[in-house]
Amino acid sequence: MNIVKKAKKYCLSIIDESDDIFSLVTHLPEAEKWAEKICDLRPEADREVVLLTVWLHDVSHYVGDRDTDHAVRSEKMAKEFLEKNQYDPKKLPMVLHGVRSHRNRDVAPETIEAKIFACADSASHMTDIAYLLMMQTGRFEYLAGKLERDFRDVNFFPEIHKMLSPVYRSWKELAKNYKALHLIEKVKPKSEFGFN
Ligand SMILES: [Fe+2]
Ligand SMILES: [Fe+2]
Repeated sequence: MNIVKKAKKYCLSIIDESDDIFSLVTHLPEAEKWAEKICDLRPEADREVVLLTVWLHDVSHYVGDRDTDHAVRSEKMAKEFLEKNQYDPKKLPMVLHGVRSHRNRDVAPETIEAKIFACADSASHMTDIAYLLMMQTGRFEYLAGKLERDFRDVNFFPEIHKMLSPVYRSWKELAKNYKALHLIEKVKPKSEFGFN
């Protein structure tokens, strides 16, 4: 089994234990689709590194101390996984940097692979159900900030930013119209759906 398949299996086994089906069903496959698409546009990037980042970046959402940033916790888990599987020591830091910088907060993506993944992760939020779930639970302020951060981070690749501009405008419009319905929040989802 190649290392990407192993990482996917490892990630899915952790999600399975946590019964968090949101990521299993939507976020990670969506992030994978975007990662593949952007890698097609940037053939100079190491696709294996990007795909390993897809499957390892959020592994700690489901385990460990939730007070620590999941990018930090995922980096630690990714390192353990990659070392255990004797991954190429030259490429290992490239994956870890992608995992650690995927939120583009305290650590910014510096390599092309990390930029591809940060872009793919944000783009995947814009074509996923996460924003809709935020609307359904009345988290409009959080959604507004998240949408802006995601749209900012897809700009690592201007063609992706351009491609997603109509989608960005549509989400803004939908959120405004949904909010105007004044639906009463009755059920909160189990997960906070704070994927980024
Ligand atoms: Fe994340
Ligand atoms: Fe993510």
